[in-house]
Amino acid sequence: MKGGSSRPRKLAGLSLTTSPQRLPNPPATNGPLITLAGVEKVYRTGRLTHPALRGVDLTIRQGEMVSIVGPSGSGKSTILNMVTGIDRPTAGTVTVDGQVINTMSEEHLAAWRGRRVGIIFQFFQLLPTLTALENAILPMELARMYGGKERVKRAMANLELVGLGERADHLPAELSGGEQQRVAIARALACEPVLVIGDEPTGNLDTQSAQNVVDLLANLNAAGVTVVYVTHDLDLARRAPRRITIRDGRIAGDE
Ligand SMILES: Nc1ncnc2c1ncn2[C@@H]1O[C@H](COP(=O)(O)OP(=O)(O)OP(=O)(O)O)[C@@H](O)[C@H]1O
Ligand SMILES: [Mg+2]
Repeated sequence: MKGGSSRPRKLAGLSLTTSPQRLPNPPATNGPLITLAGVEKVYRTGRLTHPALRGVDLTIRQGEMVSIVGPSGSGKSTILNMVTGIDRPTAGTVTVDGQVINTMSEEHLAAWRGRRVGIIFQFFQLLPTLTALENAILPMELARMYGGKERVKRAMANLELVGLGERADHLPAELSGGEQQRVAIARALACEPVLVIGDEPTGNLDTQSAQNVVDLLANLNAAGVTVVYVTHDLDLARRAPRRITIRDGRIAGDE
């Protein structure tokens, strides 16, 4: 892959049964996908200020799989929110996929995020009144990508990719936690993102479901998608070739 706009290789043909393994990180010739330069974030509540990020410099290259660990309150979610543009830094620059995102308008940012980034949360955040298939289609509708039939075809392929082809008509409440998170992964893949971000994507799952989710993330990464995820579980963190430790709003380790 080269340049900031290249799409990942086709995801089709992947499955949960692909053997989980620690893959080597891509060669250093891959360009940077994410660059945080001097990023600070100060939260203000009333007269109180809280420095959540105190100067973060970080580069993640295209094709990397990176886990982020650190104590509660250390700034992990804040870093992810900088990368997805869900929140903006108080100081510093955030460049993702060749774009300086911290100065983009909200509208431009939302459109960019919808097309280029897939996000997975701890509590799945599926729409409860939509079926698995409808949830998996929704980002394509919001981004106005693909035609109607193509949307269904792609969403079904993504549900099959996460092993849920036969649950397409189920509502979230009719699925287990692990299954709901796999629907959320299918939804994250809707617009063929270059980057998949997970904020504690396994935090609400049993051990086996958590393993399955990280297996899926590793498979996506093997297909060329850059993956960054936060976890409290050191074994799951070790599945990523690169592990970043955050402490008190700073990078305390990068191995
Ligand atoms: N919207 C906000 N307003 C004020 N303070 C906030 C806000 N969001 C986060 N913080 C504070 O910033 C710090 C970093 O928060 P963050 O959510 O990034 O931590 P975290 O490492 O993700 O923790 P956890 O592991 O518990 O999810 C915390 O002290 C938190 O209380
Ligand atoms: Mg958090």
